[in-house]
Amino acid sequence: MGVDIEKKAFGFDEPLDRSRLNTVKWEFERERLGDDGILSFGTADMDFRSPPKVLAALQGVVASGHLGYPHKSASYYDAIVGFYSRRFGWRIAPEWIRFDVGVYASMGALIDQLTVPGDEVIYQTPVHKVFREVVEYAGRVPVTVPLVQVSGQYQMDFTALRRAITDKTKMLLLCNPHNPVGRSWTHDELRQVSEICSERGVIVVSDEVYCGLIFPGKTFVPFGSVSPEASRNSITLFSASKSFNLTGLKHSIVITENPAFRAAFERALKKGDLQYGGSVFGQVASEVALRDCDDWSSELMKYVAENLVYLKEFVSASMPLVTVNSPEATYLAWLDFSNYKISPEQLQSLMEQEARVILTHGYTMGEGGSGHVRLNLATQRVVLESGLRRIAQALQAWQHNSRTSVVNPDN
Ligand SMILES: Cc1ncc(COP(=O)(O)O)c(C=O)c1O
Repeated sequence: MGVDIEKKAFGFDEPLDRSRLNTVKWEFERERLGDDGILSFGTADMDFRSPPKVLAALQGVVASGHLGYPHKSASYYDAIVGFYSRRFGWRIAPEWIRFDVGVYASMGALIDQLTVPGDEVIYQTPVHKVFREVVEYAGRVPVTVPLVQVSGQYQMDFTALRRAITDKTKMLLLCNPHNPVGRSWTHDELRQVSEICSERGVIVVSDEVYCGLIFPGKTFVPFGSVSPEASRNSITLFSASKSFNLTGLKHSIVITENPAFRAAFERALKKGDLQYGGSVFGQVASEVALRDCDDWSSELMKYVAENLVYLKEFVSASMPLVTVNSPEATYLAWLDFSNYKISPEQLQSLMEQEARVILTHGYTMGEGGSGHVRLNLATQRVVLESGLRRIAQALQAWQHNSRTSVVNPDN
């Protein structure tokens, strides 16, 4: 009973009034396609109101009538340290913490400071396309090590990882939890990454932006927590953005025990005159989110988990050739359409023009992404239902029209 009342209070089931919204996820896509009826399951934002306590704190900032450069007081550091210790049992020191305006901004800055042009930077695919972009724009060499699927679950290929490291490899970009495949890497998997990288002098930059979105009954292990060596050899990038629906606030957190990495990061901040750490709104919202919103997070992930169950049931009934992953974290489902004989470009066009649904298409995410789409589950059930109905109808019409023979998955 209590749960129902809370869920209603957080309003996850109530569609947003979009009349005053202007988002990349919805309004940009509607404009891009010239179609106001598009439903979007793309960009990793939620179609939910941010936590009420965060919204109240932001209203408090406005009511104060002053929006000057913000100072980070002890209460903010306490909120970050408390979040890590309470949720994941990782004890970090306030001195390890720095700030930025976004996770990828920090990734680019660290690549710039800790490697030189021509150095190799490794990451595991399929992964959010900005991993490749950030390495390429920095003039470094992207080296990809594809994840492998074992009994339907994505795993790291440690043999391939060892083989991929050369004398030029200086950094590994880890995605934990992993976007798009939804793995929350285990202690053992992370320990192996740490050992391989430390042995070969490869610094680990761990993007943990999704760590507040863990499915009920699952766990998250911060990379830096797996051993003293992992802590010394890594930089953790984090933001309350994804977990608390604050992506428009542009505020993020950088954590490293290693003083040399901190110094390198500070140089980058100064180079960009970013040492003041982003907006007052981002800072205030992050403090409240990390300290006071555990109840919101757990209700959110129950709602997302129910959407996942609905998705799986719908797919097995109406699109049986599609397989859906079982994410341990994030609000992103990863659907495999490769049993349909349809090219990635055709699939995208079918989804956008016929189904009128925006998805994130896997072919943009490197090796292993093609044939897949990422579907954002952080939306009202009613929106998910109509999106899935549209997808199923468009696929059926396409199959009928093209009379395409479909690969039987049992063959
Ligand atoms: C894996 C990953 N890291 C980082 C980001 C960027 O996060 P932010 O804009 O909050 O810094 C994204 C955004 O989609 C992401 O998917």
